[in-house]
Formats: sequence, C-alpha cells, structure tokens
Amino acid sequence: CGIVGVIGKKNTTEILIQGLEKLEYRGYDSAGIFVTGHDDQDHLVKSQGRIADLKEKIDGRVQGDIGIGHTRWATHGKPSETNAHPHTSNDGRFVLVHNGVIENFEEIRAHFINDDLLKGETDTEIAVQLVSYFVTQESMTVKEAFKKALTIIKGSYAFALVDKQNPDQIYVAKNKSPLLVGLGADFNVICSDAMAMIQETKHFVEIVDGELVTIWADKVEIEDEKGNLIRREPYEAQLDLEDMEKGTYAHYMLKEIDEQPAVMRRLIQRYSDDQNHLKVDAKIVEELIASERVYIVACGTSWHAGWVGKQLLEQLVEIPVEVHLASEFGYNMPILAKKPFFIFLSQSGETADSRQVLVKINHLGHPSLTLTNVPGSTLSREAKHTLLLHAGPEIAVASTKAYTAQIAVLAILAKVAGEGRGLEKAKVFDLIHQLGLVANGMDVLINEKEAMAKLVEESLSTTRNAFYIGRGVDYYVSMEASLKLKEISYIQAEGFAAGELKHGTIALVEEGTPVFGIITDLVMGSHTRGNLKEVESRGANTIVIAMEGFERSGDAIILPQVDTLLSPLVSVIPTQLIAYFASLQRGLDVDKPRNLAKSVTVE
Ligand code: G6P
Repeated sequence: CGIVGVIGKKNTTEILIQGLEKLEYRGYDSAGIFVTGHDDQDHLVKSQGRIADLKEKIDGRVQGDIGIGHTRWATHGKPSETNAHPHTSNDGRFVLVHNGVIENFEEIRAHFINDDLLKGETDTEIAVQLVSYFVTQESMTVKEAFKKALTIIKGSYAFALVDKQNPDQIYVAKNKSPLLVGLGADFNVICSDAMAMIQETKHFVEIVDGELVTIWADKVEIEDEKGNLIRREPYEAQLDLEDMEKGTYAHYMLKEIDEQPAVMRRLIQRYSDDQNHLKVDAKIVEELIASERVYIVACGTSWHAGWVGKQLLEQLVEIPVEVHLASEFGYNMPILAKKPFFIFLSQSGETADSRQVLVKINHLGHPSLTLTNVPGSTLSREAKHTLLLHAGPEIAVASTKAYTAQIAVLAILAKVAGEGRGLEKAKVFDLIHQLGLVANGMDVLINEKEAMAKLVEESLSTTRNAFYIGRGVDYYVSMEASLKLKEISYIQAEGFAAGELKHGTIALVEEGTPVFGIITDLVMGSHTRGNLKEVESRGANTIVIAMEGFERSGDAIILPQVDTLLSPLVSVIPTQLIAYFASLQRGLDVDKPRNLAKSVTVE
C-alpha cells in the first residue's frame, strides 16, 4: 500500500492524486482520499480499482488545504470501496490511512471496540476506532490518544491521522513500513516513497520507527518514544522526474527492458576508478572475504538474481554461498557458519519479508550488505553496507532491469572480492570488457522484438501452461523466465531443472505444450537437448534459446556470445520480451498485473 498527505496547499486534491499515481506500484486494488479545510466541508472519496477509477469519482468540489490519500494492496478484507482507505472513526471525527498489518487487531477489537461500530473488514478500522476510544472514553488529547494507540498496536504500520475538529495538522507514525515527510515553503507533505512528492519538493526527512510526528503547514515536530523533541536535517532526494515518465513507450516494462544495455554501461562507469579498474568499498570486500559463508536473502525476482550471484561468488571468490527466500529464512533459520556474511537483494529496498530477516541478523551482530535500486530505502539504511543498482526507477511491476543490474553488481563484487583474495581466476576475468559485450549483446536481442512477437503469436497465443527448462545458470534463468511469463500473461509457467522435469512434472506435458529450453553451455546444453527430445516425443512444442557457439539448426533464438559466467544477462532478455508480448497479445495490463504489487511491505 502507499500513503500520501499534504497540508498548506490550495490544490490538495491534485497533489494527492498525482502522488497516488506515482505510488500505484505499491498496490492498486482500491484507493481513496480525504480532503478538508476550514470551511467545514469534508470530502471522503473512495473507489475500488485503480487511481484512474478514483479520479473519475472526484469533482471540482473536492477541495481543501489538508488531505491524506491511500492506494491499497489488500491484506485483511477483500478489495472493495468499504475496505478502501481512508477509514473514519464511528463518530466521524478521525480519519486515518494505514500501510502495513496490525497483528493483534483481533485482541484490540475484543478489548476496546464494539463490533457494531465497525463498517468493513480491515485491521485499519480498529486503529482509528482505538484513537477515538481514548479521546472520547478516557478524555485524552488527540496526540495522547494516538500515542497510547501506538503502544497497543503490534505489527507493521505507517499511519497518517487527521482530526476533523482541528484540521491544521496531520499526525504520523511508523513501524517497519516506510514513511517520509517532505518539506516545502509554507506547506509540507508525507509519502511512502519520495517519488510520490518529488514534483512538490526535493527535501525529505526520514521518520524512525517509534517516533510520533506532527505536521503543520509551516512546521514539523518529531518526538521520540520518550517524548523528547528530535531535530533531524532533511536530505535531498536524487530523483529525476524524466526517469519516472514513460515517454513514447506504450508500457514501462518495455522501456525498462530497453534500458538494460544503458544500465550495464552505467554500472561499469559507476563502479570504475580513474585507472579503469572496478572498485567496491574496501570494507565490504574485507568483510566478505573474511567470512566463511555467504547468505543471500531475497524474494521474487531478486531471489532469482541471487541464484546467479551464488554461481558468480562461488566461482570468483571461492566462498560457499547459500541462497534463501526471506519469508522462509526468518522463521526457519539454518545453522549459520561462525562467520557469515549476509547479502540482501531488493530492488525496492522495502520488502517486509527481507527486512524482518535483516532485523534478526542485525540483532545477532552479523555483517550485512544490501544491493538495492533505491538509495535511502529501509534495507539500505538498516544494513551495514549498501551497493546501489543505478538502474533508474523501475515502475513496471514485473522486474526486468533491476534483475540484470543485480547480477551485474554481484559480478562486480565477486570480481573485486576474488582479486582481494588474490585468486587468479578473478584477476584475469576482464569484467569491464565482458560487461561491454553483454551490453552489446542485449542491444542485439532488444532489436529483435518483431521476431519475439511472432514467436509468441505462434507458440503461446492459446496455451494455458508452459515450461522453461535449463541446467546450471540456465535453470536459474528458467525460474525467472517463467515467473515473468506467469506474472503478466497469467499463463501457468514453471521453470525447471531440465533433468528433473521427467521425474514427475512431465505428466503435465500435452500435445502442443510449449517447452522453452535455455542453452548457454556445451556439456549441460547437450543434456538439456536430450530432455527436450523427451518432451517432444510426448507432443511438446519445444523452443530453443541457445547461445552462439552452442546452437543447432532449428533453434528459435540465438543469443550473442558472452562469457558463460554472465550468460544470464543476455539469456533473460528474450524471455522478458516473450512475457511482454504474451501479456500484450492477451490484452492484459502489462505494467500492473492483477493481484500483484511491486513493493510488498507486509510479511
Ligand atoms: C514483489 C514484486 C516482485 C519482486 C519482489 C521482491 O513481489 O511483485 O516483482 O521481485 O516483490 O521485491 P524487491 O523490491 O525486494 O526486489
């Protein structure tokens, strides 16, 4: 979910809507705004569906100089207008938006709230009723009531609260969920991500978990848990509005696929010194090579990048690497090496599953590094070290350029760390040159859009399921390729280790089932070809994506040759385009597929 708020501006409604549009990647099943002013006119507009649906419901009368807004990714309670935020207390006095999950909402309801007062099914409604309860039943001031409510509420949250009787201030607080205050001249804003308000201001103040912040049009007061006033300097957000626009592209996803060669070239620059040597902060390298074992923790596409990272680090640094799903690791921690080193991969830097692991790791005192695309994000701030992906804002829900950027940065880290250990293999690996070849190879593939569209038309237009298979890194790419396909085309797709398909899943292969084989290695490739023959004999429509040098006649897509260690950077490109065209051809919403959110800030 995403939150915005503004105080002290005339065009409040417009600012809220623009902000919510920028935050739509965080959820888009329902949305709402509350706007008020000093003329006793309150406006609460909510809608199921996209921000565009909300916009249609707003007319010129929705005006005021204070407002809060929300775009939702449903957790408790199905997407509906009633369950959409903002939520109001039963007496109508308090209005609240919330991002996160209140874990003890059943207990709070049982203790404090009369069920008859509740309108919807959300945990958020409990929070606003609780504030109201303390004000009306225990005669607290609004601030005291909010503070008291925060001591009771357990879970993750970013809240923004408005008291209609005193529409001069917004109260905000956060725990585990991101929230920023943006400073303007005679106005202030709040948002879950600086991107939402960059049109209004570049100056943002971070809020720390447990603080209570009161925002007026001309001042901001931050109080810590003990009630002490905190002074915190704003930082300047380095965001370029142009990077966030679609330009002439029909979809962000296509723009982001096309940007990948430029991201590779940018990474070479950003991670090179004056002598044209790749460099990474010496402390990171020291800690990495002093460790006995590396643990990569991530979710979704980032987790898939982690598997490729394992290969790179094991080959070039010769340190054992484990790759873990964040949502599993936190509650089912393996026995750790005595000297572990943790790498968190997260495009957004906000994924709650990954963050809960980082909190535990920090508690245990282990060194950690976050690779993220978003400077200042939670995972970046809370890990000991950060390496940035420099991919530019990734807006499409299905991740593309962040995946390849993560692999490239992991390759740079592996190369520099391997050199740090004095390993010959790392020293002779000319990564700058190789990444240049990768960028050129990506360019070639990106120019083959028509062929990809045709291939999709021929092989995926009516299918309900599909498989990607490969061995070694080709298997890792197969997992990512199938995730991409299912995310945006809703074709049920699975990525399989080529040799494993025959041990069960082959039962799903029918006449015409598309099975893509990825081949970037001679020996493993010949085995994969054997597995493709097995499914072909059972009616599958096999489509081979092979690297130059390992291709055979009849292969559908030929990948320009790059170093085997970096092959995922090129082999993934056609699979991204295949997913894109499959979604387009089915008339689906490429950038905002159903049920998903780009940044999932709940566990
Ligand atoms: C969500 C997105 C995925 C993404 C995953 C991890 O589920 O829909 O595309 O890979 O989160 O996100 P992160 O920002 O941590 O890389």
